[in-house]
Amino acid sequence: MNIIEPKLDYIPNEIVCVDDYESFAKSRLDENAWVYISSASADEITYRANKQAFDRIHLLSRTLEDIKGGNTKLNLFGQEYAHPIFLAPVAYQKLVHGDGEIASAQAANAMEACMLLSGFSSTSLEEVSSHSNSPLWFQLYMQIDMNDNLFLIKKAENLGYKALVITIDAPIAGIRNKEQKAGFYLPSHIEAVNLRGMKQLNLDLKSTQSSIFDGVMAHSPTWADIKFIKENTKLPVILKGITHPSYAKKALELGIDGIIVSNHGGRTLDTLVPTIDILPKIVEAVDGKIPVLLDGGIRRGTDIIKALAFGASAVLIGRPIMFALATSGALGVAHILKILRDELEISMALTGCKTLKNITKEILF
Ligand code: FNR
Ligand code: LAC
Repeated sequence: MNIIEPKLDYIPNEIVCVDDYESFAKSRLDENAWVYISSASADEITYRANKQAFDRIHLLSRTLEDIKGGNTKLNLFGQEYAHPIFLAPVAYQKLVHGDGEIASAQAANAMEACMLLSGFSSTSLEEVSSHSNSPLWFQLYMQIDMNDNLFLIKKAENLGYKALVITIDAPIAGIRNKEQKAGFYLPSHIEAVNLRGMKQLNLDLKSTQSSIFDGVMAHSPTWADIKFIKENTKLPVILKGITHPSYAKKALELGIDGIIVSNHGGRTLDTLVPTIDILPKIVEAVDGKIPVLLDGGIRRGTDIIKALAFGASAVLIGRPIMFALATSGALGVAHILKILRDELEISMALTGCKTLKNITKEILF
């Protein structure tokens, strides 16, 4: 058996960039937790392609601009954000650190970052909101009983969450071969606490029926459910998991407030298009009417500036946050946010961008 290293309460000198956290995390987790946060679906082609696609895009330098007094601020749905680096919704954070989502919220608070709380979080919406003055968004996985969805949304509204994110790209879990081989299981002390007592799918099927078409997918949300939710909340509604331009158009038709271009970090359907490659088509479909955010494969400030140059308003970071959380809790998460913000600001400085609005396709080659 591998020895599990203790969590760190300092940042070692060797950790200077986001990727440096990965090996530190691996040696601090059991195989079960490691495989959950690090793996992706099937051959992990999309997982790798997300990052490779960023690496194929090049920047052009502009260093004699006057950028004194510049900043990374943005405004989304009437709310100001200090910078465009958001924490992606990641389920069951207590799997990697005892403080789980609270540590992430504390780090988000310290670094003025917006955190998206997963609908499968292992900490309650109440507890998380009591640990952050920074804006929080709530990510919902639609439950089969609509009353349960309305209950969660109302709770998020009352607690001051600023937006509702509905993840639409994972109505059924992707096939994650590494998890299968490792026999991944959710330990009994870790639970999606906000969903406690809610109606679960009862897969009582005849032998001739498909567990996919007649089971899970027979109860998965459709556009009509999205429309219903939009009509029943005061919060801006954002759809996460869009890669098809026709879905961006449909979202606009329904009055959806924002879109997150995402392939779930390659965890759902393998060989889905890399997010940065499809972003321009989604931005074109949306035509400036609503904000478009992006996640998947962001590991550098240069990745962030490329996403913004193609028209994203902000980006979300998934696995790196978990690697940092697993290594050193809130300290690590705050550190990774600081690294990315510094890298973004330096990228802006060296491409002559004083504010996020100045980041356009003109800096790309
Ligand atoms: C996720 N993701 C995710 N998304 C979501 O909408 N709800 C969730 O509960 C989860 N849970 C989750 C768990 C783990 C372990 C990972 C790695 C990811 C997807 C996440 O929000 C995001 O889309 C990707 O992680 C982005 O890709 P990177 O940054 O990990 O490359
Ligand atoms: C995942 C789910 C929970 O990616 O979104 O593990």
